[in-house]
Amino acid sequence: MKWHIQPLAMEASSPRYIRRQEYKKPDWLIPQTHLDVQIFDKFARSTITLNVTRTSDTSEPLVLQGEQLEFISAFCDGVPLAALQMVLTAEELTISGLPPQCELKIISQTDPYHNTALEGLYASGDMLCTQCEPEGFRRIAYFSDRPDVMSIFTTRIEADLKYPNLLSNGNLEQTGLSEGGRHFAVWHDPHPKPSYLFALVAGDLACVKDQFIRASGQKVDLHIYVEKGNEHLTSHAMDSLKASMKWDEDVYGLEYDLDLFQIVAVSHFNMGAMENKGLNIFNSKFVLADENTATDDDLARVESIVAHEYFHNWTGNRVTCRDWFQLTLKEGLTVFRDQCFSADMHDEGVKRAEDIKILRSVQFSEDASPTAHPIRPEQYSEINNFYTPTIYEKGAEVIRMMYHVLGKDAYRKGIDIYFERHDGQAVTCDEFISALDAASDADIQTFSIWYRQAGTPELTAARKGQNTIYFSQSLAPNAANTSTDPMPIPVKMGLVGKQGEAIAFSIDGGPQKTDHLVMLDSADKTLTLSSDSAEIAGAVPSILRGFSAPVRLNHDLEIDEIAHLASFDSDKVNRYEAFQTLYKQAISARMTAGPDEKLEDILGQAIGRLLADASLNDDFKAISISLPSQAETEQAASIGGFVDPVAIYWTRMALGKALGNISQSWISAYIADEVHQHNAASRQLLGGALSWGVLTGNEETISRTEAFALHKNMTISMAALRALNTINHAARERALSHFHDKWQDHSLVMEKWFSLKACSAYASDIEALHRLMAHPAFDFKNPNKVRSVLGSFCSANPVHFHDQSGSGYQFMAEQLARLDAQNPQIAARMAISLTRFAHYHPERQKLMCDALRQLAKGRLSRDLNEVVSKGLTSL
Ligand code: BES
Ligand code: ZN
Repeated sequence: MKWHIQPLAMEASSPRYIRRQEYKKPDWLIPQTHLDVQIFDKFARSTITLNVTRTSDTSEPLVLQGEQLEFISAFCDGVPLAALQMVLTAEELTISGLPPQCELKIISQTDPYHNTALEGLYASGDMLCTQCEPEGFRRIAYFSDRPDVMSIFTTRIEADLKYPNLLSNGNLEQTGLSEGGRHFAVWHDPHPKPSYLFALVAGDLACVKDQFIRASGQKVDLHIYVEKGNEHLTSHAMDSLKASMKWDEDVYGLEYDLDLFQIVAVSHFNMGAMENKGLNIFNSKFVLADENTATDDDLARVESIVAHEYFHNWTGNRVTCRDWFQLTLKEGLTVFRDQCFSADMHDEGVKRAEDIKILRSVQFSEDASPTAHPIRPEQYSEINNFYTPTIYEKGAEVIRMMYHVLGKDAYRKGIDIYFERHDGQAVTCDEFISALDAASDADIQTFSIWYRQAGTPELTAARKGQNTIYFSQSLAPNAANTSTDPMPIPVKMGLVGKQGEAIAFSIDGGPQKTDHLVMLDSADKTLTLSSDSAEIAGAVPSILRGFSAPVRLNHDLEIDEIAHLASFDSDKVNRYEAFQTLYKQAISARMTAGPDEKLEDILGQAIGRLLADASLNDDFKAISISLPSQAETEQAASIGGFVDPVAIYWTRMALGKALGNISQSWISAYIADEVHQHNAASRQLLGGALSWGVLTGNEETISRTEAFALHKNMTISMAALRALNTINHAARERALSHFHDKWQDHSLVMEKWFSLKACSAYASDIEALHRLMAHPAFDFKNPNKVRSVLGSFCSANPVHFHDQSGSGYQFMAEQLARLDAQNPQIAARMAISLTRFAHYHPERQKLMCDALRQLAKGRLSRDLNEVVSKGLTSL
């Protein structure tokens, strides 16, 4: 039963939608663009010269987008345009009566210094930079700002000498002095590109240089620009860049295609990083990192983001999206590529387990929420709201399924076909699927349904008698209202014998193998297993190995069978999954009937075997003892009913304490042995040991943890602080304030402190949040700082965000209204937390909706309005 809330007379105004089906080819093309940007102290002036060509005989006028621009003048082939030929609105410049081919010059001005939305040209500290994807170029100059209009750009930047570095895409062609103590640089990018890949930077920066020799023998200059004084924090990013370039040559046969590759780190950035052609722009937090200032996880994140943006050079830039509905074409594919890269650089099973944890936490939640959408959406109001876990992570999962079905070689062949057919083009997801489909006899086209249907399929595996498994799938209706037809689901499976051995078996009389890939392509399917080995009797099925499809799996395994997989499955992912299932069952039991002693006993033994197993790496042990996230636990517990997020939080902590008690002697020994501080895998497990250890209340463990909080290695320090942050003990405040004093002048490390403070279940009430936002290191105009306080609060502080008084929701609504006025993208992203209520009790749903309604009373940006109205209309 859904709680019904009376809609108020006028809620958020209903958004205007742009629809995928309404796509029309461009009427005009722009083969060449010359952009001249002159930077002054109070404004920037753009002179854009476009070689335009009409494509059809329809004599449609030329429509250019421009926002937050002051129009100055326009010329056609050198002649001023008559006012009668132009219609100018706040969003568009329409020009009629142009010859089918001409040179159009348009002059406009913009103010980068008060651009707090961080889209288009803006100031970050003492530098100026740009962010154009998806629709920011129109804030720099009038242009046909859509990805299927690709142009060869020549860019001239002119500025005061206080900006020695003037950067743009491609190759540097010319520099020189100009009047008034100013200078200029001219850049030329030979590759046609859509405007969203344009970039420009003006600053006084330090440049760290290196080189890479391509497979073909040519060298590439690698430049990383950072604020002066941060040069020593760039070597990890540089190494990651070289490793990515090598990997793309080795694995995909793809070489870099310019002689220069530049990265610029900026401190004010809405996202993580951006793949502008030849000039990637990064949030400084994903460039500047060493082991004293960043955790091992942060370092791995830097590596994967550097790789991701580099990989876009082919998957995104050389072949780009026809329109923004195809966003997953480049993002899903590039995430899949960066995931495989990280798996190759580290441990494949651990990486996969980490990715599954994120997918389930954020993407499955999205599928079950008012903002659910398929990986290729049918409509949007604000495209910025569609850079989502569904487009990214689920998009990558869909490609991974096709990869499994094709196998490594046919997949690579399909990718080669994709580039042969589409290099230099702006294409759709259908063209990608067709290229993969052309690589083998496998039916890849059937996967297109995954691009259309939103929601997380549920896969049920039920044993029927001896050696028969009945599979069925279902898809619940979702907020995107897409169809719920059966999907092609590749299911990898094996059998684990009584001694833990892999059993060779056949399915429906086929060949005997220890690993099978079964395609479930209809609503249900019955498999009959057989084997020459008598051991098949009593063997435990290991289903969905490697998490071969992004589905929710139900199975009928008994607790001791799950524990058997936890201890013996040769598939690391399913070993990890078995532990996760046991934790979820233990938490569910505690939520309803109290601790299930038998279950926790079996779980404790499995953990004991895991920790004692010398054949396993410490990072695998660490991920296996990590409890399901808050979001994963809420999902598991909400099947068939409502849940209380606060109760779930405390129950997770109570289970951690119980497991800590069981593992007490291992914990003490592990944290006492200094050898565990010296490599990343062991530090990860050390973090796990501390998190359970402090929950037991053992004073010796707590005081050791307090000492670790001051460790010079950031991973150890943060692991200790995160652990202490979960207990109500004086050591927590002492450690946090030491950490604060040590790092108060280091802007990026202070983000960690803000985040810890904002997610404490004990100390972070609303008053404390106001104090944090008044801290001298806080900056409401910097997205990283806002995320570290407000983002941490609403996504990682269930106790206070979900306070039963509703004060957490009200607080967020107030802050979001204020934030929306300056940075709509970030406000809209953070508002999502107020819409994730479908699985909560009606009283709580009402409180969360009250906060959304309060927001809806104000004037909202298109970004925030779309999220708020989806939240409100879902009831
Ligand atoms: N193209 C995006 C950056 C972007 C996103 C620009 C949204 C404008 C709006 C970039 O390639 C990207 O995906 N960045 C991710 C990190 C990546 C490792 C998944 C990001 O910024 O979070
Ligand atoms: Zn990307």
